[in-house]
Amino acid sequence: MLKTSCPALDIDPWTQDNLIDPYPGWSLMRDAGPVVYLSRYDIYALPRYSPVRSALSNWQDFSSANGALLTEEMNQATAGMTLHTDPPEHQQLRGVLRRPLTHDGIEELEDDLRTQAETLVELLIRKGTFEGVNELAEYLPMAVVSRQVGLPEEGRTNMLAWSDATGDTGGPMNDRFHAALPMIQEALAYSYDPTLPSRLKPGGWAQRLWDAAEVGDLPLSKCPTMLMDYWGPALGTTVAAISWTVWQFSRHPDQWTQIRRNPALLPNAILESVRLESPLAHLSRTATRDLEIDGIMIPAGSRVLMMFGSANRDDRKFDEPERFDIHRRTIGHMGFGFGEHTCIGQSLARLQMKLLFGALLERVTRFEVNDFTPAVNNMLHGVERMQVTLHTH
Ligand code: HEM
Repeated sequence: MLKTSCPALDIDPWTQDNLIDPYPGWSLMRDAGPVVYLSRYDIYALPRYSPVRSALSNWQDFSSANGALLTEEMNQATAGMTLHTDPPEHQQLRGVLRRPLTHDGIEELEDDLRTQAETLVELLIRKGTFEGVNELAEYLPMAVVSRQVGLPEEGRTNMLAWSDATGDTGGPMNDRFHAALPMIQEALAYSYDPTLPSRLKPGGWAQRLWDAAEVGDLPLSKCPTMLMDYWGPALGTTVAAISWTVWQFSRHPDQWTQIRRNPALLPNAILESVRLESPLAHLSRTATRDLEIDGIMIPAGSRVLMMFGSANRDDRKFDEPERFDIHRRTIGHMGFGFGEHTCIGQSLARLQMKLLFGALLERVTRFEVNDFTPAVNNMLHGVERMQVTLHTH
């Protein structure tokens, strides 16, 4: 194929305005080409669906071993996370990390999650109007998931803030990066505290990492950073997905009514929400050699941005991609990634959402959202706060 030069754009996807409303910028990037060079950051970005999918299925060329975050500083500081490894090491770490997240592991949590979801919905219906991110979206991930990790209480309650800080420090070194850095330093110090292993909840996910190291399934040195795999990509993403789904149902009451009539539509509606407002906007890889995508060269050693959120809005893949449609064929969307590093927590995230919205389905006829404020984060596309009213008649 004839080699063409890579379209270079001066656009900055990490300004406050572009983080609040990334879609016009992403559309510009998709129109510019299958690969675009972001000159301000000296990185290559893949904004279209097909190149992201191909790159994610090819870890040999698009390696995670130099880290999946944007800056070398953060990739070095968090080296050891499963996210930052290639096979065969990756398979070893991922195999241990996902043990509590297999079908059986999740089934064990289902009753507790259901009870917590029903209790929460009962309480919120009594309140009628409330702050939706803190009181609704954060509840299950904090009440159940963060407890399963089994950190001592101060670690458990800090996990959500650490997760948001991972998002900000996963992007370029802007003001948000610097503001979040102390939080990440605190999280790292906490994870490396030599007294931590003796204070973990027996049987918790964290304790199981150290147990795996003891029997030789993992190097002991990996345990502290692998702890970050349980809150880095796990908590803020789920909170964002729940928040956006409430927002979608408030804007599309007809679709909520259809699900109330036929609850079997709920799982696909959840996937559609994750497609449309993908909580993890992007992560990156390193080109291991000179690469070519549709005739455009990416030099060896370049950092290459996998734009999950933009890929999910590509009209080359999805008809009218900006439309929320619970009947859409969502299969193949990139909201949970693809390939070697595809999300290990997606079944758990989807279960939490199914049980929460399942409990809401029984009682709530309509969602009303006011005072909606999107979150501004370098990597996590979420909601800062919103006032939610649950209507039951
Ligand atoms: C709606 C919620 C969630 C979304 C949108 C989401 C999204 C993603 C995405 C896009 C990736 C791919 C990263 C890449 O290719 O570089 C990923 C990986 C990952 N996710 Fe999730 N995630 C969610 C929930 C969770 C939960 C609940 C957990 C754990 C309890 C979790 C743990 C992980 C881990 C450990 C990885 C890295 C896997 C690896 O490197 O092999 N995620 N997630």
